[in-house]
Amino acid sequence: MSESSPGKISNVLNETRVFPPSEAFAKNAAIGSMAAYEALYAESLADTEGFWEKQAKEHLHWFEPFHKTLEWDEPFAKWFVGGKTNVSYNCLDAHVLAGRGQRVALYWEGEPAGDRRTITYADLLRDVSLFANGLKKLGIKKGDRVSIYMPMVPELAVAMLACARIGAIHSVIFGGFSAEAIADRNNDAKAKLLITSDGGWRRGKALALKATADEALAKSPTVEHCIVLNRLNNNPPMVECRDIWWHDLISDVPADCPAEPLDSEDSLFILYTSGSTGKPKGIRHTTAGYNLYAKRTFEWVFDHRAEDIFWCTADCGWITGHSYIVYGPMSAGATQVMYEGAPNWPEEDRFWEIIERYKVSILYTAPTAIRAFIKWGDHHVDKHDLSSLRLLGSVGEGINPEAWMWYYEKIGGGRCPIVDTWWQTETGGIMMSPLPGAIPCKPGSCTRPLPGIIPRVLDDSLAEVGTNHGGMLCIEKPWPGMLRGIWGDDARYQDQYWKLVPHMYLTGDNARQDEDGYFWIMGRIDDVINVSGHRLSTIEVESALVSHPAVAEAAAVGRPDEIKGQAIAVFVTLKNHEPTDAMRDALKKHVRKEIGALAVPDDVRFTSSLPKTRSGKIMRRLLRDIAAGKEGTGDTSTLEDYSVLVRLRNDDES
Ligand code: WTA
Repeated sequence: MSESSPGKISNVLNETRVFPPSEAFAKNAAIGSMAAYEALYAESLADTEGFWEKQAKEHLHWFEPFHKTLEWDEPFAKWFVGGKTNVSYNCLDAHVLAGRGQRVALYWEGEPAGDRRTITYADLLRDVSLFANGLKKLGIKKGDRVSIYMPMVPELAVAMLACARIGAIHSVIFGGFSAEAIADRNNDAKAKLLITSDGGWRRGKALALKATADEALAKSPTVEHCIVLNRLNNNPPMVECRDIWWHDLISDVPADCPAEPLDSEDSLFILYTSGSTGKPKGIRHTTAGYNLYAKRTFEWVFDHRAEDIFWCTADCGWITGHSYIVYGPMSAGATQVMYEGAPNWPEEDRFWEIIERYKVSILYTAPTAIRAFIKWGDHHVDKHDLSSLRLLGSVGEGINPEAWMWYYEKIGGGRCPIVDTWWQTETGGIMMSPLPGAIPCKPGSCTRPLPGIIPRVLDDSLAEVGTNHGGMLCIEKPWPGMLRGIWGDDARYQDQYWKLVPHMYLTGDNARQDEDGYFWIMGRIDDVINVSGHRLSTIEVESALVSHPAVAEAAAVGRPDEIKGQAIAVFVTLKNHEPTDAMRDALKKHVRKEIGALAVPDDVRFTSSLPKTRSGKIMRRLLRDIAAGKEGTGDTSTLEDYSVLVRLRNDDES
């Protein structure tokens, strides 16, 4: 469906079930009726800048007030111009100074049995201040880039907040990435420092992060130092002068480190994500606008209250962890659960055990996890008391209605609204989602836009499509959480997001709007595969394959997968090599080394040549159909050579 050209998308999903919030939920919610939502939305559109100005003044601490809400030099936005604030101050000092220092910020749960820590906001402020002083001791200054490659331990959040405190720009690299991927990111950002750990736990195994970091550092000339957290006591080799233990670094620094007043538009972080070209792009977010957007969207969408225990199961290596573990919830003073490990360790009921133990009231997870839970069986859920839950959330990809229903009934006991949140690394925070006390849910729809957000669905000729017609999803106006650019590549930023549709942000997703004005996301318009809610570009996988000496040409496509949403299927032509199982394994290993485990192809098919158009473009639609087990149907009149398709089918059968 997503693969058709925009404007010609047929809508096959016809979901008619509607789930309004219960009266009890609506009564207690901050925004408790459709009328209240409509009023807030209307207010945000009547004077969008005025709306955000008021929000910013009320919800952030300002060392110096801003004098202009928005400077829009399309496509470059500056929000809250001239103001000075600090994200770490808003996340920590603000609560401690208001007397809430003893509130629990994190209930941290390591993967090994009994590995637990309770960390208050006062503790976090102390740890962040010490580590920020440690960073200064190493010569890290405002504007320097710091890569962070760590497991899901509290120190990961501490490292992020410490960078924010002194104005260093962090680039968190997911712990599943390979040395090559880390080196690419270090080099693109010209990182000065890498923060890592001797390892972390995943499904009962100790991951040797430091060894991977060492391999990456051999190819990262700009990185001067490497800080190593001792998580596993496994004594990795330390390189003299370059490597320093986290605990040694902070052993002799002052306890106090005032948050530096930073300009609203100073960069807060870079986060690399996949686009439709091979080179990962460093999405750049800045200080005040991002902070405000993460905070307010957290409060609106999760209807957050002081007594909530919030658990977002994402990793901080992705945008969801940035916005809805660290910056959104912490600015709001939330109490959270943070978990290090796998959902099926030691048993498939780990999540439900955690919810019961900490009395989690809001769970925010991904459809891929939900589908895995369904497969593992209801008996794992039945063992635990989940009555503390009052709200559920979903992110990363569309949630299919059947998974939605299971989540609603089995996990939520039929009483918890589900917020299906649509957004992207680029948007900084949630753009569309039900407000749980106000907007009735429809399984599979992200429903309505948040305040200040104006989505449009356009066809190829850039006209707005009618009700229930699919098209390109665009956003009409700048918003505070939007990306400010791609690190070091303004041209690519303009080209990718602002060229095809003038004066609008192009999301790269297809969508339709139904008769109630609800939005339904219909997949990507570009060559991005969504594997377990993580974006991978087909070209990245192809480039990795082609870098293997035996490979002549490769094409990667997504195919439907019950658990992961999409699996990666690759079609490979070899240079004078036999297409053996050993070669298949070698290629999988190669991709693991080049990108990481998350990009390893599920299917490797060898073919003597790839189907191409006359202009030499690989016919992906055809390959997608073949990968999905369908016939290579559709229009093949532009094939360079019909026999290719036939051969491919034969290869498939052999
Ligand atoms: C997809 C993750 C349908 C979409 C926060 C988007 C979704 C991409 C949803 C961004 C959803 C995310 N329904 N699709 N609720 N949420 N997506 O940058 O294709 O990792 O463009 O950000 O994930 O992925 P990213």
